[in-house]
Amino acid sequence: MAVALAPWSEHDEPLLHVLLGDPAMMEHLGGPESPDRIGARHRRYLASPADEPQFKVLEGDLPVGWVGYWRRRWRGADVYEMGWSIAPAAQGRGLASRAAGLAVAHARDHGTLTAVHAFPMPGNAASNAVCRKAGFTLLGETGFDYPPGTAIRVNDWCSELS
Ligand SMILES: CC(C)(COP(=O)(O)OP(=O)(O)OC[C@H]1O[C@@H](n2cnc3c(N)ncnc32)[C@H](O)[C@@H]1OP(=O)(O)O)[C@@H](O)C(=O)NCCC(=O)NCCS
Repeated sequence: MAVALAPWSEHDEPLLHVLLGDPAMMEHLGGPESPDRIGARHRRYLASPADEPQFKVLEGDLPVGWVGYWRRRWRGADVYEMGWSIAPAAQGRGLASRAAGLAVAHARDHGTLTAVHAFPMPGNAASNAVCRKAGFTLLGETGFDYPPGTAIRVNDWCSELS
């Protein structure tokens, strides 16, 4: 089945609740988000600037997940950070790996920065595998702040865009 990215739209809030409201889905991301927080995140995604696009992942016509990237300051440079999430019923079919590859290509074609990073926790085996399969290079383990105010350890994966 074809995998494609489409801009986040006003109809996509229920998908975000599936992705971010489930404790199992959020095991490596600080736990589930509250319905209010998910609603606020949905509105942020709708208003995201062109340089920080948020996409739904489509398998055929069916929305099955999210991928996006945004700017952050990292080790003295402006870079993109990328994140992804695929609904439990659609996992294990290579969708996140292909969606991440499409999002990296989008950043390469449309972005203004020269590198994109992803920061999965070392124990998030599936997300680390997505990084590897989407062509990121592992730079090493490092300290990180997520959710804001919480110190965690993550793997720093990077894909050069230029
Ligand atoms: C991470 C996530 C997006 C992967 O989605 P997915 O569509 O199932 O990923 P893929 O099918 O592309 O699989 C990628 C690789 O991960 C591997 N994988 C999947 N689940 C795994 C698991 N639980 N343990 C180890 N490896 C796993 C797959 O085997 C595959 O590698 P392979 O093709 O070499 O076998 C999904 O598990 C998810 O949404 N998790 C919750 C949100 C999250 O953690 N996001 C990342 C934040 S950094």
